[in-house]
Amino acid sequence: MSGHGDPIPMTAHRGGPLTGVAEVPGDKSISHRALLLGAMAVGETRITGLLEGQDVLDTAKAMRAFGADVAHLGHGEWVVNGVGVGGFAEPEDVIDCGNSGTGARLIMGTMATSPISATFTGDASLRGRPMGRITDPLALFGTRSYGRKGGRLPMTIVGAENPVPVRYVVPVPSAQVKSAVMLAGLNTPGETVVIEKEATRDHTERMLAGFGAKVSVENSPEGRIITLTGQPELKPQTIVVPRDPSSAAFPVCAALIVEGSDVLVPGIGLNPTRAGLFTTLQEMGADLTFENLREEGGEPVADLHARFSDNMKGIEVPPERAPSMIDEYPILSVVAAFATGKTVMRGVKELRVKESDRIDAMARGLEACGVTVEEDQDTLIVHGLGAGGMPGGATTQARLDHRIAMSFLCAGMAAQQPVSVDDAGPIATSFPIFEPLMERLGARLVRTPA
Ligand code: S3P
Repeated sequence: MSGHGDPIPMTAHRGGPLTGVAEVPGDKSISHRALLLGAMAVGETRITGLLEGQDVLDTAKAMRAFGADVAHLGHGEWVVNGVGVGGFAEPEDVIDCGNSGTGARLIMGTMATSPISATFTGDASLRGRPMGRITDPLALFGTRSYGRKGGRLPMTIVGAENPVPVRYVVPVPSAQVKSAVMLAGLNTPGETVVIEKEATRDHTERMLAGFGAKVSVENSPEGRIITLTGQPELKPQTIVVPRDPSSAAFPVCAALIVEGSDVLVPGIGLNPTRAGLFTTLQEMGADLTFENLREEGGEPVADLHARFSDNMKGIEVPPERAPSMIDEYPILSVVAAFATGKTVMRGVKELRVKESDRIDAMARGLEACGVTVEEDQDTLIVHGLGAGGMPGGATTQARLDHRIAMSFLCAGMAAQQPVSVDDAGPIATSFPIFEPLMERLGARLVRTPA
């Protein structure tokens, strides 16, 4: 599957139960960060379990363009020889981040305080996403940016020659914004302080500390205050990337809604800033257990065991949980359609600026599948039809969004009539083995003529 080629229409049919073991790929957020910090360390960083999805491959290519030596040994094993903090070279060509907002925004932060320029672009989805949330704080360091109207890509970033440290209160709950500011703070003398009112995924803080940077985190009434001391020498690391909870969500949720299913998803990262979906599913009455809880590479990890759950109930998802499950609302809204009663998801307006407007994409697709949905700018409400209750029988639009495509294919595995997506190609950005993995569990996925 390729996210860059011709559309790949695909249809999911209801079949037998899903059974077996689902070994999902490495965590996308951690994979991007491993490449970036490896590129800024001095010496050889070894990475195992790296996600070899298109988003991360685009970041690997970008790190080469900035002068790091990035080698692929095979099967998720990579070696990065970094150039040191402040050692980036000016790229000779445009940096194409493909579909990846995380790639674009974190790389911008990483080069923003070096005396070089770089021009960034991406696919139609990424070119439509707001970059002002990154360039506003970067301007405080002295970085200049020249983009299209509304702060869109293509955009040229001119790094600050004499960056000054900043104190920045992140105005939206966004790990990408927080991380971009911290990464810019790396090549800035003095202390850069980032304050987030709501905790978002903390992989950047954890990994920077692992690479030897001085990072402190203090919880105060103002929020989480993160202080980074600039211009450290980052020491190369050996990084084991845990499997991605956001990818695990798909086989887990499919197992919960397909009759008779019993699926084990081993080795999933359960960092509390990422695990909100699983708590929500348990509150809905899902038969989901965590087995063999352990720590791997500084992150909590467990095996997830999901079984068909014919008695799930709609719930009100606490809005303060949103940052810990922000990427999981599309698949949660599918599960909600197979529960009884209403599932109310509030405080989710950030979904409107992801790879697509995910509230609109899910609402329109679920309606086409016979589900009643209510929405406003910040809310999605799904009226459940109970186990086996979704009529299906529709073609949905993926909108260049991997998580929308996978969500509707999972819906089709349990709906009364098949569900199609117009383009499954974007799945390659985060979960390139989705199709064979789900088929091995017993799913019936058919590539359909356009
Ligand atoms: C990510 C942060 C989140 C998330 C994205 C990955 C990251 O985006 O949706 O898939 O790796 O930092 P926001 O920072 O926009 O919330």
